[in-house]
Amino acid sequence: MSTSANQERLASIGQSGVLRFYDSLDEAGKAKLDAQLAALDINTLPGLVDGYVKNKPKVDLPTDIKPVNAYPHSSDNDEYAKAKARGLELLKQGKVAAFLVAGGQGTRLGYEGPKGEYPVTPIKKKPLFQVFAEQLTAASKTAGKAIPWYIMTSDTNDAATRAFFEKHQYFGLDKSLIKFFPQGMMPAFDKGGDLLLASKDSLALSADGHGGSFRALRNSGALDDMKKRGIEHLSYFQVDNPIVKVIDPLFIGLHDLTGSEMSSKTINKAGPLEKVGNFCIGDGKTQVIEYSDLPESLAMQTNADGTRTFDAGSIAIHALRVSFIDRLTAPGSDLNLIWHRADKKVPFVNDAGELVKPTEPNAVKLEQFVFDAIPLASNPLIYTTKREDEFSPVKNADGNDSPATCTRDQIRLFARWLEAAGVSVPRKADGEPDATIEISPLFATSAEELKTKPLQVKKIEAGQSVYFG
Ligand code: UTP
Repeated sequence: MSTSANQERLASIGQSGVLRFYDSLDEAGKAKLDAQLAALDINTLPGLVDGYVKNKPKVDLPTDIKPVNAYPHSSDNDEYAKAKARGLELLKQGKVAAFLVAGGQGTRLGYEGPKGEYPVTPIKKKPLFQVFAEQLTAASKTAGKAIPWYIMTSDTNDAATRAFFEKHQYFGLDKSLIKFFPQGMMPAFDKGGDLLLASKDSLALSADGHGGSFRALRNSGALDDMKKRGIEHLSYFQVDNPIVKVIDPLFIGLHDLTGSEMSSKTINKAGPLEKVGNFCIGDGKTQVIEYSDLPESLAMQTNADGTRTFDAGSIAIHALRVSFIDRLTAPGSDLNLIWHRADKKVPFVNDAGELVKPTEPNAVKLEQFVFDAIPLASNPLIYTTKREDEFSPVKNADGNDSPATCTRDQIRLFARWLEAAGVSVPRKADGEPDATIEISPLFATSAEELKTKPLQVKKIEAGQSVYFG
């Protein structure tokens, strides 16, 4: 797109301000800004500014909100045994791939660099990416077939992510089975709706949310690649949760056998107002209602037996049919996930050309969320799992969902596996394991698998650090 075409387009929507330093830029700077502007869907900007920036978006809650009927957690049931066998069969046939979304900025954690590099395990301090890679190696071995891995990055961390994998020789995985692709970017706006500049030659851009993954899968060619390889299902997970089951044959099998286009795992909430999305049936459609939007009267509601009515928390673990992604993103189909507004501190260049680092939120960022696709799916399935088995994300530098709580939860999990396998684990007065324990996914990925291993250690001593690798 030529400069004058950009100028006209921007003028027509009152956004010429981003070109205020244009004439002073060198050729490379001009080309950079031109390319960013050309990539913007300019026609949609006025609608976004009106609907989300100048005015806070109105949440259209369904009129009729009911709890979801989730598949229960159970270890002993015929349907689940069949589902697990089906999942393993699909894996063996090469019809399942892992899909990691890792395009976020991880601002709350405050780690410089892709979050997947963050050292997360209790003893070896393995990075998150390595934990997932080892799980995939183990799952591929069980399946008897190497499982492809798609990794969504963003312009902010794509090069660094690729370099990290290269430096670590892809953690032993076959490089040809890993496909990185960057997601789309969205511009940040000031509160008046003007586009912000991060520098004289660059818009302030950030990734367009994990809901952008649908578009990115199509636009990057990843979807075509999946179709070529005969992949039918994706096991979707996020970069911050090392105890996720990257591949769960039971969940994938259940998703497949029930004809679900998009399935989700849920856990019982820690409290009525826990800050997680709530799976609900809204006006007949399965969907996630954010904690901030669920009326408190419903959040607090209890059943006759005292249990919470709305207790199905969302943990961002999904199974997705490739045909669903294909259908949603086919040319001409109008995949129109809503945008979510976040008020953030975004550094920007002021009219004097100086970089300003705000101390208060000065800008609006817009993101799409993957769970907003659930109402668009046929037969969406919700499966209940246990928080302590599958969910302990690293989101914050301290407090809840921090490296400290995640380390604690990993140790608790490994201690339970060991105890189930007959190993004695010392416990403190408060019941916490009195040892630092780490089990590599290459050694065992579940309590059941651990039981099949010849364990040299029968008893862990108080204060010991023990690694099973
Ligand atoms: P979060 O919602 O925790 O966002 O992402 P974040 O950007 O990583 O962290 P903060 O909010 O800045 O602290 C949940 C998951 O979704 C991915 C993240 O990489 C993480 O795996 N994600 C998020 C994307 O892939 N793209 C995005 O645009 C946003």
